[in-house]
Amino acid sequence: MKAVKIGVLGLGTVGGGVVNILKRNAKEISRRAGREIIVTHASARDLTRERICDTQGITLTSHSLDIINDPEIDIVLELIGGTTIAKDLMLQAIDNGKHIVTANKALIALHGNEIFAKASEKGVMVLFEAAVAGGIPIIKAIREGLSGNQIEWLAGIINGTGNFILTEMRDKGRDFADVLAEAQALGYAESDPTFDVEGIDAGHKLAILASLAFGIPLQFEKVFTEGITKITRADVEYAEELGYRIKHLGIARKTDKGVELRVHPTLIPERRLIANVDGVMNAVLVQGDAVGPTLYYGAGAGAEPTGSAVVSDIVDIVRVLTGEPEHRVPPLAFQADAISDITVLSSEQIQTAYYLRLSAEDKPGVLADVTRILAKHNISIEAIIQKEPLEGETTLPVIMLTQTTLEKEMNAAIAEIEALSTITGSISRIRLETLG
Ligand code: HSE
Repeated sequence: MKAVKIGVLGLGTVGGGVVNILKRNAKEISRRAGREIIVTHASARDLTRERICDTQGITLTSHSLDIINDPEIDIVLELIGGTTIAKDLMLQAIDNGKHIVTANKALIALHGNEIFAKASEKGVMVLFEAAVAGGIPIIKAIREGLSGNQIEWLAGIINGTGNFILTEMRDKGRDFADVLAEAQALGYAESDPTFDVEGIDAGHKLAILASLAFGIPLQFEKVFTEGITKITRADVEYAEELGYRIKHLGIARKTDKGVELRVHPTLIPERRLIANVDGVMNAVLVQGDAVGPTLYYGAGAGAEPTGSAVVSDIVDIVRVLTGEPEHRVPPLAFQADAISDITVLSSEQIQTAYYLRLSAEDKPGVLADVTRILAKHNISIEAIIQKEPLEGETTLPVIMLTQTTLEKEMNAAIAEIEALSTITGSISRIRLETLG
């Protein structure tokens, strides 16, 4: 049978990894796909740059349009990134009848609904396994492996940079800014590192996972995001003392009122496997009603781990190239006419437990005032510890763990506690999930 021809847009880290894998494992891959797969063309902005892959036999161009307009090319890999040029090229390639494989989480999260509608109109496939958690086949697991389940919730460490920062702060007592600089130097961070530390990158990935899990449209704009920039070494230590780890989690949960979509630092019991996922590694915990909890772990970034995911999508496309379009696996797991419009809850409607750290004056009645306010808002305290004042300070750090409550009640309680004359500064609040 005729070989399948691939055109690669973007020959950077991921593109280079894909070319290397396709060359090195060519035989094994074609045994799986049933056809030979060859990269015939690749585009790059700077053709003189040194590459991590051997480009012998590949026609290089600085014009991506040469590739998407080439009638010989069957599958286009969009590995440029960003949501402007990449979007135009992808839509044009779809219009030209090309199947697409992409690693572009932002593009899928922000414009996936439009892209999939166009792909369906044109009868082509758009696959994006590499967009979430790098080399972990989490999209395939949810879309296919768990298709007998009602997914109840999922929680993931889906940004390696953030996890690296929190791990270094905990293990080595390093400061946030110092670790971020190292993550940038090591090439883990996004070109705009605020995407990593403010939860935007994880939010993109969570929007994709939630669509696959619950059969809802991609709605990145409704994801509540809170970054890790306010986490202090003291918070990390107090959490440890209470038997918890702080992880930057993306959480999607279906409730009887709607769907929670949120990314924020989260205390989780240290005995949970996911609490022990350290450094740049990613992990996603998925709870299905039939299967129970399942955990997926692996490298969330890097040339070959991400390349591995891209190649698996290529193989899937090659396998169904001769199949009928309407019988293919739908891009968002559910059939296009079965996508549901379940409400996505606002951040005030989230229900979670909390870690609170406040600075209190050392006077009788201060804690009584705080607990009175919490009780007024129906918030139960799970644990409370009072520490010695930090060096040079007169106020006492008080750490509390609460039971699950409505975020709206917690917002109101925090505002009232912060207004007490005996409480200094603002309260540090970290959400807490037992993931049980
Ligand atoms: N900046 C991302 C991360 C890269 O740190 O996880 C992979 O998406």
